[in-house]
Formats: sequence, structure tokens, C-alpha cells
Amino acid sequence: MSRYELISQLVTQQTSPYQILAKQQLSPQIKKIQVHAPEIANKAKAGQFVILRVDQEGERIPLTLVTWNNKTGTITLIFQEVGLSTKKLGSLQVQDAIMNLAGPLGTPSHIKNYGLAAVVCGGVGIAAAYPIAKALKEAGNTVVSIVGARSEGLLLLEEEMKQVSDELYISTDDGSKGHKGFVSDVLRCLIGRNYQFDIVYAIGPPLMMRTTSEVTRPYGIKTIASLNPIMVDGMGMCGACRVSVGGKTKFACIDGPEFDAHSTDFNELIRRLKIYPSEERLSLDFHEKAQGGICRCRQH
Ligand SMILES: Cc1cc2nc3c(=O)[nH]c(=O)nc-3n(C[C@H](O)[C@H](O)[C@H](O)COP(=O)(O)OP(=O)(O)OC[C@H]3O[C@@H](n4cnc5c(N)ncnc54)[C@H](O)[C@@H]3O)c2cc1C
Ligand code: FES
Repeated sequence: MSRYELISQLVTQQTSPYQILAKQQLSPQIKKIQVHAPEIANKAKAGQFVILRVDQEGERIPLTLVTWNNKTGTITLIFQEVGLSTKKLGSLQVQDAIMNLAGPLGTPSHIKNYGLAAVVCGGVGIAAAYPIAKALKEAGNTVVSIVGARSEGLLLLEEEMKQVSDELYISTDDGSKGHKGFVSDVLRCLIGRNYQFDIVYAIGPPLMMRTTSEVTRPYGIKTIASLNPIMVDGMGMCGACRVSVGGKTKFACIDGPEFDAHSTDFNELIRRLKIYPSEERLSLDFHEKAQGGICRCRQH
């Protein structure tokens, strides 16, 4: 081992307190990890996130804080393996450490007693919605949660969402559980049945958030979306997370990630999320070739 490698290994060891204490596979591509991060657990609030780097060559990726416990000094993250960094994170095992973890980042959700609150969420967005539903419930709201996924096997945190909701509705695209269709259909139906929502939170894929905001727009129901643009520094300096809200440029990492959904330019968000598909594919292919296939190098 060269002197440089030895020094960088020692530095990595000293700056790697973010040990994985538990790991669980929630669905074929979605994993949950519990990480030792006392400073973050101590300050976290609903709606905030962390930015982490798995290893020395790793890119910085944002993940929402799902739960935190300041007594045990732990945080929980739930992530879908969509590309190189999330696959690398998923290949870490209990007792491995994440190299860097910065947080809590972002402006916390504005939680108060609104009255009747709907939490509309889909896919891995359910994980990001859970702490918000929980905080809304604790603030005295009547919480109606609408959770959706492509099929039953991909539904996350059903039991947890039930515990923090007064009413829970499920929808799946293929009809394998609950309503067959989209979460926005269920919301439309409830509004049609005279549910007078004081606030709607929409958290999930940008298309789902856009559709949900179109359901509430004619009724003037205050609707908040949690935006998920590409982020790099998470500190308002690099500009990667630029979004347009009400015709103004905002940085989702510091001004958000939550914004008024009716004023958000979702088309721009969707376009900007697709800026680097060939680079993302290339880096994943390159890494998998170098590893001889990432899924074969470790047991899940
Ligand atoms: C505030 C915030 C909170 C997030 N919380 C979670 C979470 O709790 N769980 C979770 O699974 N994901 C979350 N995401 C998305 C997650 O950060 C990305 O999936 C991840 O950065 C992808 O990195 P990758 O290298 O694995 O994939 P890449 O190869 O970089 O990208 C693969 C695909 O993911 C999309 N993508 C890339 N970066 C982002 C990004 N920052 N946000 C959304 N899509 C992206 C690309 O458009 C591409 O289609 C969050 C994003 C933000 C901005
Ligand atoms: S991530 Fe760099 S400005 Fe927001």
C-alpha cells in the first residue's frame, strides 16, 4: 500500500462515523438503512434531508430523513436504487460506514394545525411523506393519507402511515391493492365527496405532483409539493437544484424542498431531471464492469 493510500484510508476511517446499524430490503429496489448520526438526529425536523457520499469517488446524493431518534443517535433513510450512487449505497452492509453525511438540510415543513390535511404520496415519495404526515398528526390535524404505488409489492410503510393517519386510502396502478389507478384520482373522488381539505401535501414523482396540483387548483386548496431536483452541494451555491416557482428562481436545497405546487414549473423540473441520462448510464455501466456486476460483489 502506498503512503497516499495509507493516509487516505486513515482519513476516511477518522471521518466515517456514519455506520450502518441496520438494513432492510423493502421491495426489490428499495432499501431502508438505520445510520448512526447523532448530530443530525438531534436537529432533524420533518421535511429535511441529508446529502451523502458513499465513498471517495462517490457523487453527492440527497435523501430525505424518514425517522430520527436523538436518544439512540440514529436516523433512517429509505432509498430506491436508480443509478450508481444509490446502488453503491444499497451494496453497503451493516457495520459498513457511509463516508460523508451532511444534514439536516433544507427548510423544514411548515407544520401547524391547518384542520383537515391530505398527504398524497407515491413510490419512494411515501418515505418522504411519512415524517410530514406524522408531524401534521402531532400538530392536531385530521390527516387523510393517500398512498400509491405501481403494484402492491411496491407499497411502502403502509402500517406506519396507518398509525399517523385518521384515514388511509391505497391506490395501485395495476389494481393489485386498493383503488386501481392514481393517487390523484382518489383525491379527486374525496373532494367530490365534499372533503374540505385545508391543505394538501403532494410528495412523489414530479408527474404525480403536477397532476395532484391540477386536481386541487380549481378549488383553491393550498397545495405543497416536495421537489426533488438534482442537487450537488445542498448549500445554495452550485445552482444544480434551480427550480422556478411563481416565475422566480429558487434553490430547492435552501429555499425548499417544499414549494407552493400551484406556482411550480413542473415541466422545467421534469426537463432538468433528464439532463444527464447518457452520463448516468455510462457511469453505472463503467462501475458494474469494474466490479464484475455490482449485485454479484455482495449479498443484499
Ligand atoms: C431533497 C431530495 C430528497 C430525496 N429523497 C429521496 C429519498 O428519500 N429516497 C430516494 O430514493 N430518493 C430520494 N431523492 C432522489 C435521489 O436523490 C436520487 O434518486 C439519487 O440522487 C440518484 O442518484 P444515482 O447516482 O443513484 O442515480 P443517477 O444515475 O444520478 O440518476 C438515475 C435517475 O435518477 C434521477 N435523479 C438523479 N438525481 C436525482 C435527484 N437528486 N432527485 C431525483 N432524481 C434524481 C435521474 O434523472 C435519473 O433518471 C431525493 C431527492 C431530493 C432532491
Ligand atoms: S444543490 Fe447546489 S444550489 Fe442547491
